[in-house]
Amino acid sequence: MSEHDREKARAIGESHRRHDEKKLATILKSRQFQAIKGVRDILPPESALWNRVEQAAREVFGTFGFAEIRLPIFEQTELFARSIGLESDVVAKEMYEFEDHASKELAALRTLLLAEEPTIDDPQFFWSYEMKVTDFKERLKMGLDRGEIPKTPENERVCEALGPLLDSIAFARQEYEKTSGQSHAARLELYVKQVRNSLSEVRTQVTVTHLGDDITLRPEATASVVRAYIEHGMQNLPGNVKLYYMGPMFRRERPQKGRYRQFYQIGAEVLGSSDAPGIDAEVIEMLLAFFERLKLKGAVLHINSIGDKNCRPAYVERLRAELQKVREQLGADSQRRIETNPLRVLDSKLEHEQAIIEKLPRIADHLCAECRAHYDEVKRQLGLRGIAYQENWRLVRGLDYYMRTTFEITAPGLGSQNAVCGGGRYDGLVELLGGPATTKGIGFAIGTDRLVLSLQESGVGEVSGGPARSAGGLDVYLAWFGAAAQTAAVGLARRLRDAGFVVELPAVEMKFGKSLGLADRLKARHAVILGEDELAAGVVAVKRLADGTQQKLAEQDLFSYLRAARDF
Ligand code: HAM
Repeated sequence: MSEHDREKARAIGESHRRHDEKKLATILKSRQFQAIKGVRDILPPESALWNRVEQAAREVFGTFGFAEIRLPIFEQTELFARSIGLESDVVAKEMYEFEDHASKELAALRTLLLAEEPTIDDPQFFWSYEMKVTDFKERLKMGLDRGEIPKTPENERVCEALGPLLDSIAFARQEYEKTSGQSHAARLELYVKQVRNSLSEVRTQVTVTHLGDDITLRPEATASVVRAYIEHGMQNLPGNVKLYYMGPMFRRERPQKGRYRQFYQIGAEVLGSSDAPGIDAEVIEMLLAFFERLKLKGAVLHINSIGDKNCRPAYVERLRAELQKVREQLGADSQRRIETNPLRVLDSKLEHEQAIIEKLPRIADHLCAECRAHYDEVKRQLGLRGIAYQENWRLVRGLDYYMRTTFEITAPGLGSQNAVCGGGRYDGLVELLGGPATTKGIGFAIGTDRLVLSLQESGVGEVSGGPARSAGGLDVYLAWFGAAAQTAAVGLARRLRDAGFVVELPAVEMKFGKSLGLADRLKARHAVILGEDELAAGVVAVKRLADGTQQKLAEQDLFSYLRAARDF
C-alpha cells in the first residue's frame, strides 16, 4: 500500500470515527442510565441484612473448620464448559462469554469486515474494504509476532492466506484503474466480479480468527474451586480441604422473582481422598446450622442419589428407551433431552408431563451395590444428626458433574424459584479437570438473593436504622452553630466515632430548626447540640429525639450517657 493510500484510508477512518462519536454523544445526552435487565442494586438498609447473612456464614462455617477462598469473577470458558457440561442449560444458553482480545482496533476491524456487505458495485467501497483488510492483516501479523494474539493454527493460516488474497484484489484494482483498453463499464464489471470472489473468501478467513482467550463470567464457583485446588497443589494439604466462598455469579436467565442475571451465592466445598457418607451428612448439617442461626423458617431438605459411572449409564439408557415410547406426548425441551440428557427430563415442571414422568423408571431401583450402600449410609448419618429429609427421586440437578448424593433445600416465600440451595457430590470432577483421580468432592451453594428474600418474607429479615444508615442506626446527630463550634464538633465527632458511636456531622452550618429536623428524619437517637453558649460553658446539649428530653453534659459524661442509652 502506498503512503498516499494509507493517508487516504486514515482520513476515511477519521471521518467515520467523528461521525460515530457525534452519534454517541446525541444518544448519551438523551439517556438516563438504569441497571441492566436482571441485575439490581442492593441498597441500605437491606444491605445490612446481607452483611448479617454473610457474617453468620463466616461464623458457622468457621466452626466446621472451613476457610474462605476468594475466586476470580471470570475464568476460561473451557473450564465451565468441561465441568458443567456442554448440554447443560447453563453452558448451552446462559453464560456471559467474551473474547478477551489484546487489540481493540483489530477486533473492531474484524467486526467491520464481517458486517460490511459489498452489495453495490462501488469501486470506492471496494477500495476502502481493501485498505481495511490490509490493515487487519498487518495488525494480525504484528499481534502474532508480539505474542499478543494466540498463535493458533487458524490464526497463522489466516495471516498467510490474506497475503495472496490481497494481491489478487490489488491486481484487479490496478487493472480497473488502467485507462487504456476496454471500456470503463467492462473494466468495472471485471473488477467487481474478481473482488467479490476474493472478498467472500476474506470474510471466511476473518471469521475464524481468534483474537484472544475465551473468557466467561462465572455462572457458579465449584469449577473455580476445583481449578484452584489443582493449581495450588492442595491435594498435598493434610486432611480434607474445606473451603467456602461468597460473591456474584452470572447466568443469562429469564429474570423473575428470585431469579436474576447477576445473583449471589454462598457456597462451600470439601475436597479430599475420602468419600465417606459422614462428610455428605456433615456438609448438610453445617448448612442447616447456618439456616438455624438465621432463624430461617420452613426449610425442607430434599435428597437423592444419582449413582455413579458404573450404574448411571445403564439407567440413563433404560430411561431413554422409556422416553422414546412416550416421545410424542412430551414438550419440545424434553424431546430434545431424550437425546442430549434424558435425566434432565425428570426436572421438567411442565404440567402435562408430570403424570408421564411419574411412571418412568426410578434411579433408586438401578443403583449399583456401592452406590446403594453409600446412599443408605448418608441417610443413616443424617438420622444420627437428627436431620429430617425428604427423598426425591427426580432430584437430578442441572450440572453434569454430580454423582451419588444430590440435595436441595427449599424455603417458603420464593414462588416457583423455591430452591434456596443446591449441592451434591462430584467425585470425578477433579480428575476431569486434570487433578488427581483420588480426590473426591462434595459441596453446595446457597442462592443469597433467595435466602434474603425468604428471611424477609418470613419476618426475620428486619434490620434497624434509617434509609441510609449502618446496621445499628445513627447514635448521634451532631448539630453545630458557628465557626468555633464547628472546630469543636469535628474533634468531638472523631472521639465519638473512635469510641464506636455512629455519628452524622453536618458539613455546612444550618439553621437550628432545619438541623434538628434533619436529625429527626435520619432517625438519630440523639441530637448533640454545640453552639457558642455550650462552648463557653464547656458542655454539650443532648436531646433524646424519642421523647424530646434535653440536658447539658460535660464531654466525659456524654460518653457514658450514650453508652447507657445504647445498652438500654
Ligand atoms: P445451582 O443449583 O446451579 O448449583 O445453584 C445453587 C443455588 O443458587 C440455587 O439453588 C439458587 O438458590 C441459586 N441460583 C441459581 N441461579 C440463580 C439465579 N439466576 N438467580 C438467583 N439465584 C440463583 C450450583 O451453582 C453448584 N455450584 C452448587 C454446588 C456447589 N454443588 C456442589 N458444590
